[in-house]
Amino acid sequence: MDKTIEKIVSLCKRRGFIFQSSDIYGGFSAVYDYGPLGIELKNNISQTWWKEMTQAHENIVGIDSGILMHPKIWEASGHVGAFNDPLVDCKKCNARYRADELSENYNSINWSEIRCLNCGTTGNMTEPRQFNLMFKTHVGPVEETGTEAYLRPETAQGIYVNYQLVQGAMRMKVPFGIAQIGKAFRNEIIARNFIFRTREFEQMEMQYFVKPGTDDDILRKWKKKRFNFYIDKLGITESKLRFHEHGENELAHYAKEAWDIEYEFPFGWSEIEGIHNRTEFDLKRHEEFSGKNLTYFDQPNNERFLPYIIETSAGLNRNLLTVLADAYWEDNENNRIVMKFHPKISPVKAVVCPLTKKDGLPELARKIMDILKPHFKVLYDQQGSIGKRYYRQDEAGTPFGITVDHQSLDDNSVTLRNRDTMVQDRISVDLLLSAIHDKM
Ligand code: GAP
Repeated sequence: MDKTIEKIVSLCKRRGFIFQSSDIYGGFSAVYDYGPLGIELKNNISQTWWKEMTQAHENIVGIDSGILMHPKIWEASGHVGAFNDPLVDCKKCNARYRADELSENYNSINWSEIRCLNCGTTGNMTEPRQFNLMFKTHVGPVEETGTEAYLRPETAQGIYVNYQLVQGAMRMKVPFGIAQIGKAFRNEIIARNFIFRTREFEQMEMQYFVKPGTDDDILRKWKKKRFNFYIDKLGITESKLRFHEHGENELAHYAKEAWDIEYEFPFGWSEIEGIHNRTEFDLKRHEEFSGKNLTYFDQPNNERFLPYIIETSAGLNRNLLTVLADAYWEDNENNRIVMKFHPKISPVKAVVCPLTKKDGLPELARKIMDILKPHFKVLYDQQGSIGKRYYRQDEAGTPFGITVDHQSLDDNSVTLRNRDTMVQDRISVDLLLSAIHDKM
């Protein structure tokens, strides 16, 4: 099967998962809008993550901090000084590149010998310049120095600056975690591969505050848990997941140790989540810049320390792309495209189809809708042949198809179709809800 990103993009548009932003104006680069199925799927992924973090772990609580924060936070975090990408331009055709993507040794090579991938000329590349990725804005009506603020480039800092308030309010004891899901913004030089790298995206981050000395062990535990999340909770194919450890020259300015969880996308292995040992770097910097004591008091041992932080940082949009890419299946034998989502995260769980628009079949189908609707997302469809209706739902990834036919009127039974096998079982309407629950 030839699974390309173009085919996934096309299906996403056709079925209402994802649209390019500002479509009627010709689009807006590197921003995407989520359609009716896309938002259901995205919500299901983020709710699964939220439940896994804050419900399955008694010592992890959630917050929702602002996108705009005190600008000093970004000086303390190192983002004002160090959150840069090296940028090179072709003077001939104005093509723009991230220097590190053209050459790992971008600082030492001779750029006048580099060929432009766009226009093919050599000798026109500029020397690399550093480009800060943060979006700047102004708070208040006057644009002057002193009113500058940034759109947050990561949700993590909102957790660090609230950590003592959360710890005090909830009487948390180290080790404990704080989770957050929210938007982040980065002025990426080159955004590409659909929703993989965009300028506006969502992160699902959990910051785990631990006693120094226990950090290495705890990082190992989180690595395992986060890897298994993709297999057990999102249903991702295990052989398409792997770890990549950051080497010395890849480590972010805050990290002592860092691992990426990578997925094998149609465009190659790429990062979907980072697991980092950030040590006490962030809290120490916030102490310096705010002048506040951010140590934690460990009562039983009567000692104070700055906790180390183990971070798990996943991109929600990249999680979504992973789920889409993994689910895409061309069933050539049956001439159909199927999105084989794990039923738990499918945008729609079942479609209810009366075989015809008459003879009382729509009325019974509506009754079935009323039984199922309070429990999960269901669709009613009476348009077109039953084959076409199922084809539409296979592309939408709906795991169950329910058909109401003339026999239904006699014995109160319907057919229940499995999306992947296409097998149809006859089942009593009274057992439908529990049967779907069991299969999920
Ligand atoms: N707080 C740590 C942090 O932000 P990161 O590796 O820069 O670390 C974490 O980002 C995750 O956020 C990535 O693994 C990725 O899933 C997502 N992410 C980062 N930049 C992104 C972008 N431009 N578009 C979509 N997702 C992005």
